[in-house]
Amino acid sequence: MVLSVLLGVTFSKTVVITVGGNTTSNPGLVFSPESVVANQGDTVLFNFTQGNHTVTQSSFASPCIPIHETDGTANGFDSSFRDAGNGTAITNLPVTVTDPNMTIWFFDYNTCALGGVGGINVNESSYQTLQGFQRNAVRLNGTAKTSTSTTRSQTRTTTQTTQTHSSSATQAIRWGGSAVAPLLLALLVL
Ligand SMILES: *[C@@H]1O[C@H](CO)[C@@H](O)[C@H](O)[C@H]1NC(C)=O
Ligand SMILES: *[C@@H]1O[C@H](CO)[C@@H](O)[C@H](O)[C@H]1NC(C)=O
Ligand SMILES: *[C@@H]1O[C@H](CO)[C@@H](O)[C@H](O)[C@H]1NC(C)=O
Ligand SMILES: *[C@@H]1O[C@H](CO)[C@@H](O)[C@H](O)[C@H]1NC(C)=O
Ligand SMILES: *[C@@H]1O[C@H](CO)[C@@H](O)[C@H](O)[C@H]1NC(C)=O
Ligand SMILES: *[C@@H]1O[C@H](CO)[C@@H](O)[C@H](O)[C@H]1NC(C)=O
Ligand SMILES: *[C@@H]1O[C@H](CO)[C@@H](O)[C@H](O)[C@H]1NC(C)=O
Repeated sequence: MVLSVLLGVTFSKTVVITVGGNTTSNPGLVFSPESVVANQGDTVLFNFTQGNHTVTQSSFASPCIPIHETDGTANGFDSSFRDAGNGTAITNLPVTVTDPNMTIWFFDYNTCALGGVGGINVNESSYQTLQGFQRNAVRLNGTAKTSTSTTRSQTRTTTQTTQTHSSSATQAIRWGGSAVAPLLLALLVL
C-alpha cells in the first residue's frame, strides 16, 4: 500500500465471493459475501465450492433474468451451471471491474427465487440497495424458479461472444482452475 503510494501507481486486487454456502438452511446464502466493493481494474473471483449454481449478471429491476434479455445493448457474464458437488469439483469465474461507479447485479439460477442474489459496488445511499434487489428477486420469481433450457443456451452463446474480447487487465489474471476465460464488463454497458 505504502509502496504503491510512493510509486504513484495502484495495484489491482482480487476479491473472492464464495458460491455455495449452506443453501439447505438458507438459500439466500449462496453468495458469501453477497455484496463487495471493488475498484477499477480489480477482479471479483466467484469461487464455486458447493452444489450446483450459476453466477449470472442481471439488473436491479429484473434480478432473476440475464441482463442481455432485458437490455439489448448489454452483454452480461454468465458462468452457466457449475456443479461443485460436495467440494469435489471447485471452479471459479473471474470478473474484472472496469467502472466502479456502476453497480453490477448478479444471481444464481437455482436460488434466485429464494433470494440467491448479490451485487458489486452497491450504492446503499441510493434506492437500489442490496435488500431492495433481494426483495425484487423473491417478489418477481418467488413462485416459479425454473427457466427453460432455451434461455440457458442463448445465454451461453452470448457469453462466449464476450470471451473473445480481452484487455491487459484481464490478461494479467490467470487462474489454473478456471474453466471460463475472464469476461470484460466494459462490453456490458453503453
Ligand atoms: C446445512 O443446514 C442444514 C439445516 O440447518 C443442516 O441440516 C446441514 O447439516 C447443514 N449442512 C452443512 C454442510 O453445514
Ligand atoms: C476456493 O474455495 C476453496 C475451498 O474452500 C479454497 O480451497 C480455494 O482456495 C478458494 N479459492 C480462492 C481463489 O480463494
Ligand atoms: C444443475 O441445475 C440445473 C437446473 O436446476 C439442472 O438442469 C442441471 O442438470 C444441474 N446439474 C447437475 C450436474 O446436477
Ligand atoms: C460433504 O463433505 C463433508 C466433509 O467431507 C462431510 O462432512 C459431509 O457429510 C458431506 N456432505 C454431503 C451431503 O455429502
Ligand atoms: C467514478 O466517479 C467519480 C466521482 O464522480 C469520478 O471521479 C471517477 O472518474 C468515476 N470513475 C469512472 C471509472 O468513471
Ligand atoms: C449514491 O447514491 C446517492 C443517491 O442517489 C448519490 O447522491 C451518490 O452520488 C451515489 N454515490 C455513488 C458513488 O455513485
Ligand atoms: C424469473 O421469472 C421470469 C419471468 O417469469 C423468468 O423469465 C425467469 O427465467 C425467472 N428466473 C429464474 C432464475 O427462474
